[in-house]
Amino acid sequence: MSEKKYEKKITCIGAGYVGGPTMAMIAAKCPQYKVTVVDINKEKIKAWQTDQLPIFEPGLLEVVKSARDRNLFFSNEIDAAIDESEIIFVSVNTPTKMFGQGAGKTADLQYWEKTARDILRVAKSDKIIVEKSTLPVRTSVAMERILNANEKGIHFEVISNPEFLAEGTAVSDLESPDRVLVGSRETPPGLKARQEIVDIFANWVPAEKIITSDTWSSELSKLVANAFLAQRISSINSISALCERTEADISMVSKAIGSDRRIGAKFLNASVGFGGSCFKKDILNLVYICEYYGLPQVAEYWENVVKINQYQEERFVQNMINTMFNTIAGKRVALFGFAFKANTGDTRESPAIFITRKLVEEQADVVITDPQALSNAKEDLADIIQKVTLEPDPYKAALGAHAIAIITEWEEYKGLDYTKIFNVMEKPAFVFDGRNILQHKQIFDIGFNVYPIGKPGLSHL
Ligand code: UDX
Ligand code: UDX
Repeated sequence: MSEKKYEKKITCIGAGYVGGPTMAMIAAKCPQYKVTVVDINKEKIKAWQTDQLPIFEPGLLEVVKSARDRNLFFSNEIDAAIDESEIIFVSVNTPTKMFGQGAGKTADLQYWEKTARDILRVAKSDKIIVEKSTLPVRTSVAMERILNANEKGIHFEVISNPEFLAEGTAVSDLESPDRVLVGSRETPPGLKARQEIVDIFANWVPAEKIITSDTWSSELSKLVANAFLAQRISSINSISALCERTEADISMVSKAIGSDRRIGAKFLNASVGFGGSCFKKDILNLVYICEYYGLPQVAEYWENVVKINQYQEERFVQNMINTMFNTIAGKRVALFGFAFKANTGDTRESPAIFITRKLVEEQADVVITDPQALSNAKEDLADIIQKVTLEPDPYKAALGAHAIAIITEWEEYKGLDYTKIFNVMEKPAFVFDGRNILQHKQIFDIGFNVYPIGKPGLSHL
């Protein structure tokens, strides 16, 4: 297709976990648009141009390949891409701010603001700027002020279009989302810009699943969705601690309460704790906003979701130490999984990071195995890397180990030959199942001492 034949030209700034897959799906579904994804990280852009994508996401390569070099382009030419596009999605990262006012809680918007200023510097015509990154409520006001304080006579309309995809299922989440949310100012130009964005998704998302709102509700909904999801996990995890004291079984409790349609069955799996780039960051952001607006009780309520998660991670390690006769110094401990969830190589905020550091502090000899996350693990543990071993083969990881701890719910860990593993481990051999994915009775019958989450332990001792 020659350049001028494209119906719309769309650029996305930020080729990460959100920007890359989202734009690939838009391009795949809408061959009539030109979609260009740019990033300051040249290596990442290069990787998007090959079959070794910079992120592991099931099914993504096929989507990318279906559109790449047809109407999907990955480029380092940020200015050129801004200049030619009428719609610019921004999905640069917004990490928790680690300095100054709001440190440890609010979002660090420096990349967002820098990107807005780049757009302003380059733009020669009116543009729609779409917030894809999760941002504190009312960020769009600041962005509008920065963007529209120009003397070029250019008008920018800022739209909020938060992304709800989950890693590991990004392709199906993008292909058939529960909903797409598009927020705008409710002025004539705001509504027109909103419609332009709605029109993109309407190419494949049914109309009733496209929700429109004012900008603030859209920005806030993203934070609240993540806070509610995380709250369910902290709720069930808090009850898992009680189950362990009372011989109740958390899986039964989850099933019993999840069968109530008002509660629902999803996000009730007790675990070693939630990780990922969003939950903690977004809740702390919500907490900060509540404090800022003078709502300390509301802030405290949500902050406890993060505190329970920290408690769950600590409890898991403490339980390992207590069970292994109060000392793990010099003992080999194999962590099965390092990613924050299955089907991703992403390790951001993974409970594995905290657990590894705690075990190393206790002078355990930690060996980590994971099918996708070992290169990220190496970076996360750079300062203590000489004290841990990274081993792609779980059987080799278990060799001579006193304990295995399941940290990530990889399907392949369910099907391993645990008799073979038991035979090469030190005795007594322990399994700590931080995801409740193993057949505990069977594993116990092999000879293991088994400690699930939220269920009584099975011990031969
Ligand atoms: C994450 C969260 O999922 C999202 O909700 C949050 O708002 C932003 O961070 P994600 O796509 O996972 O989004 O982040 P990441 O994979 O780190 O990608 C961000 C990309 O933006 C990186 O590739 C980075 O190089 C790029 N970037 C950052 C720029 O191109 N320009 C900048 O100025 C800063
Ligand atoms: C989340 C939201 O689901 C998504 O809508 C948003 O866009 C980004 O943040 P993500 O972090 O990729 O997505 O994965 P998610 O499936 O939500 O899992 C987050 C964490 O919770 C993982 O560590 C997962 O293992 C854990 N989890 C999830 C549980 O411990 N128990 C559960 O029942 C569900």
